[in-house]
Amino acid sequence: MAGRRPCGCSLVRLLQQALVAAVLVVIILYRHGHGFSNLSSRSSASRDVDAFFGSPPAATNARPPASGGDAASATCATVERMGEEAAGQGSPEAASLRVRELIRHHFELHGAARVRALPPHEFCEQGFVLGRASEAGFGNEMYRILTAAALSIMLNRSLIIEQTRGQYPFGQYVSYTNHSFTLEEIKHLWNKHSCSTKYGRDLSMRVDNFEHPSETNVICSDWKSWKDPIIWFNGTNDSVGTQFFLKNIHPGMKASASALFGLPDSSDARPNTFGELMRAIVSPSRTVQEAVNWALKGVNPDIALHMRMMSSRPVEARQAAATCIKRAMQICRIQGTPQGTPRVALVSDTPSFVQEIKSDISEFAEVIYFDYELFANGSDLMFRNDMPLNFRLTDWGPAPRWAAIVDFFLASRARCAVITGAHPRVGTTYAQLIAAVAAANTYGQEHSGANFTFLSSIHSSLLVHGLLTQVGRSHIWDTYAGPLSCEHQPNQCAVTPLLPPTWWDGTWQSPSPRDVKRLSEYGIQLPITGEVDESQLVAHCRSREDHVDRYNILSSYMKNSTVL
Ligand SMILES: *[C@@H]1O[C@H](CO)[C@@H](O)[C@H](O)[C@H]1NC(C)=O
Ligand SMILES: *[C@@H]1O[C@H](CO)[C@@H](O)[C@H](O)[C@H]1NC(C)=O
Ligand SMILES: *[C@@H]1O[C@H](CO)[C@@H](O)[C@H](O)[C@H]1NC(C)=O
Ligand SMILES: *[C@@H]1O[C@H](CO)[C@@H](O)[C@H](O)[C@H]1NC(C)=O
Ligand SMILES: *[C@@H]1O[C@H](CO)[C@@H](O)[C@H](O)[C@H]1NC(C)=O
Ligand SMILES: *[C@@H]1O[C@H](CO)[C@@H](O)[C@H](O)[C@H]1NC(C)=O
Ligand SMILES: *[C@@H]1O[C@H](CO)[C@@H](O)[C@H](O)[C@H]1NC(C)=O
Repeated sequence: MAGRRPCGCSLVRLLQQALVAAVLVVIILYRHGHGFSNLSSRSSASRDVDAFFGSPPAATNARPPASGGDAASATCATVERMGEEAAGQGSPEAASLRVRELIRHHFELHGAARVRALPPHEFCEQGFVLGRASEAGFGNEMYRILTAAALSIMLNRSLIIEQTRGQYPFGQYVSYTNHSFTLEEIKHLWNKHSCSTKYGRDLSMRVDNFEHPSETNVICSDWKSWKDPIIWFNGTNDSVGTQFFLKNIHPGMKASASALFGLPDSSDARPNTFGELMRAIVSPSRTVQEAVNWALKGVNPDIALHMRMMSSRPVEARQAAATCIKRAMQICRIQGTPQGTPRVALVSDTPSFVQEIKSDISEFAEVIYFDYELFANGSDLMFRNDMPLNFRLTDWGPAPRWAAIVDFFLASRARCAVITGAHPRVGTTYAQLIAAVAAANTYGQEHSGANFTFLSSIHSSLLVHGLLTQVGRSHIWDTYAGPLSCEHQPNQCAVTPLLPPTWWDGTWQSPSPRDVKRLSEYGIQLPITGEVDESQLVAHCRSREDHVDRYNILSSYMKNSTVL
């Protein structure tokens, strides 16, 4: 340190700038060959944006497109522009209904009703995937269960949802599908059928820790060949874990992942996989449902707005959200129609914010929200008083936990659009799942859900450095947070994919330096364009051994960790 010369800082900066420019040129040249040129025509035609509310702002900070709308000359894009690309072509409805059928068929074969009744020699051959959640954030914990469900489908195994002291996670407030097992039942049946002694199959569980990049086998191993009766894919509290299988080097694994999540580089809309899974597996308890009905008074909202404010209340966040509600009204064609005023459900962790935005929008919208104090006062359906712990207050707000779960199912009744807004980061796992479940509720209905729209409201002060502050793998805009997002964007109300992307294969996606570093820990050398070099992955996997963590379930979780 002491011997180092002071840097010629201006020279360093100049070099940095030159490097950034070079990087952008490389990305743009690269993207040019990848179905980039029809972007501009699609982005203005496919979504309803009229003169009254204005069209999405053009990319700032970019050279003006040539007169033919040559998108390739832009060096960056706004979130709205990115959203048009991210949401993909066409409606996700058809792909989602295909996944719904896949889920239904899976549970018909591997659901508890059939597997429970199998003769011992068949039962003892069955495989299971464990879903294990605690009761931290609702979105993150639900993703753990949904990840297990997705993996059970990919691997042709049955689903176990673990209970703690006889209770499912959030079991007071939600019910789970009766297609799943509990671990207790599996242990019981394993003993009853003498699977260990008679059929030589010990009840072992293989644990794969996704949060330990050097240990997880998510890219390199053929999980279909794993013999352990139970598999637990641990550490998957968002949509990223299962979608890592889209780059697994074994064709069978990749094919199963693609069947559930669509092809990552396809320009068609991807299925609403987590919405379909949640719809199939989780439903509100009777009491939560009654609270939702009490708040709705029999009519579903047209639009739901979720604002995660973490106790802050910037006025521009409100303004941006109000504008986004108006855009949603246009998309839903409920403006100036005979049915008149749209019903907008408001959900926030910050109750004072709800009051403020209510006064902003009540001129043109009928506002619905769940007033938990009023409900609790007039109802004998009280839950135990589960106030958030002090250290969680900023994260979850001051309301009791059950109110957030009522809010979740209230917002997921929106029939036409869900808007996620926030300060500072947009598109939490909670908001993602609200939109996903709301969409799933509309798909396949007589009045087709093909027009269901998920929007992100991001106010301009969050976009000073483009999407760079929206990073974090569980957040919805993470894969767009690299150098291709324009700085100093005006307020954005962007169409948002229902299935958050995990990889960077699409136009305008680019990894942030943080993601490049993170992915390198998994052995993935991510170039600035974000495209994964599959032959590099194969070489990486060849130099690596499977990491095995194995527990014996019947002898109370004794660990046997080895590297095979
Ligand atoms: C699961 O629930 C459905 C309807 O709620 C019922 O028809 C079915 O019999 C149940 N299956 C089992 C195995 O309990
Ligand atoms: C999944 O299980 C079903 C029925 O047990 C079987 O027909 C099918 O071939 C299996 N698929 C794979 C990929 O193992
Ligand atoms: C599951 O993951 C958590 C967090 O990554 C870790 O602390 C825990 O030890 C893991 N459990 C097992 C059994 O490996
Ligand atoms: C997921 O869980 C890990 C630890 O279990 C935590 O560090 C991480 O912040 C969680 N992700 C989110 C988005 O909360
Ligand atoms: C709840 O009921 C009590 C007594 O009936 C009343 O004093 C209080 O104002 C009520 N609170 C709300 C939020 O309605
Ligand atoms: C969906 O959009 C189509 C045209 O884009 C329109 O004809 C149809 O009425 C809309 N459906 C609903 C339920 O709004
Ligand atoms: C641990 O696993 C290895 C290989 O699977 C096995 O040979 C060994 O007996 C196991 N040890 C214990 C204590 O279960």
